[in-house]
Amino acid sequence: MENRVKKAGVAKLEVAGKVVDLPVYSGTVGPNVIDVSKLYAQTGHFTLDPGFTSTGSCESQITFIDGEQGVLLHRGYPIEQLCDKSNFMELCYLLLNGKLPQKTEYDAFLKEVKHHTLLHTQQDRFFDGFRRDSHPMAMLTGAVGGMAAFYPGAVGNEDPAERKLGSIRLIAKMPTIAARCMKYTMGQKFVDPLNKFSYSENFLNMCFSVSAEEYEINPVLARAMDRFFMLHADHEQNESTSTVRLAASSGAHPFAAVAAGVACLWGPSHGGANEAALRQMRAIGSVDNIPEFVRQVKDPSSDIRLMGFGHRVYKNYDPRATVMQKTCHEVLEALDMKDHPQLKVAMELERIALQDEYFVNKKLYPNVDFYSGIILEAMGFPTTMFTVLFALARTVGWVSQLNEMLDDPTQKIGRPRQIYTGEAQRDYVPISAR
Ligand code: SDX
Repeated sequence: MENRVKKAGVAKLEVAGKVVDLPVYSGTVGPNVIDVSKLYAQTGHFTLDPGFTSTGSCESQITFIDGEQGVLLHRGYPIEQLCDKSNFMELCYLLLNGKLPQKTEYDAFLKEVKHHTLLHTQQDRFFDGFRRDSHPMAMLTGAVGGMAAFYPGAVGNEDPAERKLGSIRLIAKMPTIAARCMKYTMGQKFVDPLNKFSYSENFLNMCFSVSAEEYEINPVLARAMDRFFMLHADHEQNESTSTVRLAASSGAHPFAAVAAGVACLWGPSHGGANEAALRQMRAIGSVDNIPEFVRQVKDPSSDIRLMGFGHRVYKNYDPRATVMQKTCHEVLEALDMKDHPQLKVAMELERIALQDEYFVNKKLYPNVDFYSGIILEAMGFPTTMFTVLFALARTVGWVSQLNEMLDDPTQKIGRPRQIYTGEAQRDYVPISAR
């Protein structure tokens, strides 16, 4: 990766009676940055930024988010245009390679991904170790980490061909693993990938087809699945991507690093919000109960949050939520489920929240997770599978960002510092003297 930051002046910091110059850099778009990498050497001070609200971890050329304007660009292309004109496989090529493919490149990429969708038969036995009622995200975390045992060659990340193969394998096999997590909890036989299908059609077939009858792909649902994957593909240095980067910065096996990302995504504040949001809408039950629920959310003594609302970066409408809401209406229309109970609750919740000063003042808008659960439930996915589908889609983002980090000549092993407020040094006291 060719570093492209541009010098944009100097920030002067006076600390402990000393003034130090800190370089300021600018990128293509977005806030300038102050390089504090030499701060400790110059001043003996660390910076402190719990949750990294003002801290950049890296230079990246993959995804840009303008939270104030509600803008999301993948390699410069707006998410709305990509969802309208492209498809998930082309977006994967774009994220991995930095440019839209020529037809020959696109066809070759599709062929390569299709060639790696099967799992090693031993991997199928991996699932037998889980209870049938295991949460699919627990199984996915284990299964993805377990892939490192089947592809030891991907360790070390030096060989570009090996790294590329590892990236393709993860993107290609994730739907097969995800569908197996669903089938296992349902007690149904695993369904293998069929290369006659597109990526999204294949996933639907592996999830929903049964040996007893033909499964017919509904093109509206296949398109909705593909768009769901596109909307979750990458999102800058979010929590799980930062986890993958940090894990891989030690030289860990890339599949193990991605498994760490899966584990992080599971949290309800992050990728687990789609499952939590739908459960919350079910618990609200009807629009009549919304005013009381919103009162509880606003009550300072309650820790109830409106799941699917708010975002660390978006302080405007999440552009993905706009596309997701449109997709939600398309799916419910196609399935003749326009009266889906949770849709009514979601739309009334959104209407109230967007005009309530609590949410307006805190700049809380629907995020990617607000409507996605309704789509997935309508398509027949169990609620516990929602975050698995998010992880499936985000795999290309994790892999793209991991590769970018490994290609960054300035990258080092990630090792944050702290401010220590524990006990000063003291001597051990034998138990007889305590
Ligand atoms: C994803 O980072 C990414 O890019 C993530 C993601 C991706 O694609 O990778 O976009 C995917 O994770 C989307 C977010 C999914 N999570 C949820 O929907 C869970 C509900 N949302 C929140 O928990 C919260 O909004 C976060 C975690 C998403 C963001 O939290 P921040 O930025 O740390 O904000 P905060 O917790 O400091 O909240 C600011 C204020 C607080 O009130 P005060 O302490 O200032 O009084 O807003 C309140 C919060 O209490 N608040 C909410 C709220 N979210 C924030 N109040 C009610 N409901 C909410 N949803």
